[in-house]
Amino acid sequence: MNFLGSHILSISQFDKNDVKELFRVADEMEPYAQRKMHTRVLDGAILGNLFFEPSTRTRVSFGCAFNLLGGQVRETTDIKASAITKGESLYDTARVISGYSDVIAMRHPVAGSVDEFSRASRVPVINAGDGPSEHPSQALLDLYTIKKELRIADELNGIRIAMVGDLKYGRTVHSLSKLLNLYDNITFTLISPAELKMPEEIVEIIRQRGNTVIETDDMESGLKDNDTVYLTRIQEERFEDRKEADIYRGRFRLNQAIYTSHCKPNTVIMHPLPRDSRAEANELDIDLNQHPSLAIFRQTDNGVLIRMALFVLTLGVQDMVHDSAVEVKWYTEKRF
Ligand code: CP
Repeated sequence: MNFLGSHILSISQFDKNDVKELFRVADEMEPYAQRKMHTRVLDGAILGNLFFEPSTRTRVSFGCAFNLLGGQVRETTDIKASAITKGESLYDTARVISGYSDVIAMRHPVAGSVDEFSRASRVPVINAGDGPSEHPSQALLDLYTIKKELRIADELNGIRIAMVGDLKYGRTVHSLSKLLNLYDNITFTLISPAELKMPEEIVEIIRQRGNTVIETDDMESGLKDNDTVYLTRIQEERFEDRKEADIYRGRFRLNQAIYTSHCKPNTVIMHPLPRDSRAEANELDIDLNQHPSLAIFRQTDNGVLIRMALFVLTLGVQDMVHDSAVEVKWYTEKRF
């Protein structure tokens, strides 16, 4: 893919070389993301950060990433505060917002809506999650995290991952599965209730490429022999009747005891977050918070690096980032 000026809508746009280039740039963003260094490479640029569905980390990390590159952020965080509620079309919204922005990150509850919006936009649009469909920047930060946690220097061939929970509506597992499927000899163990299985078309593309899919509703056996376990929340907002979500909530939980009994030592624990910490759900227990293999907050930190890299590449400033770099005088080490 030629990143310059491209919309980033789906993981299907990426090949292994694109991923390699993105991760190379993400590595270079580290001193800026840690606030050791400051760059003004996007001075004067504006990000339109349109979140028509709730978000904490995607919205804030896209905004932080843009600020860390010297750009400014204009946000819409509530569909009710937008003229869409007055009947304005995605086409008109895109024409208007792209007149005010140099790049747009957009989340929307309807699958395909970010793609529709991008066709009317005059600037690059990054899909920050469209309904149950895709969340490409999350998949990229997830893969980047897996690579770092497993200390894989080159390609990720041969890894074994268990994905657990709501695999039907969880857009992060859809995008991550497609991304991992670029590599060889990957084993996906998909642990979910039968009603919330991974969409058949995704299972099919994985099998067609020669990678392995094991589908089960037995968590204990499914957890064995993986390098990574990736938990997901029951996506209650996607159910027609939210009461139906109650049937599945709490069915698959990982806690210290289950991890110790059923996971290989050092299995990396991931979750796209938010985790549902209510007692009736609790798919990832806080008793694992201090576990060295719990990567969920390293995952969120990596989101800033990946999103910075996406901005740098889509706006074509990858060779200029360090030109305006200065050391930050007030830098303080994070406590943990
Ligand atoms: N992982 C993720 O998309 O989190 P938010 O909904 O908080 O953005």
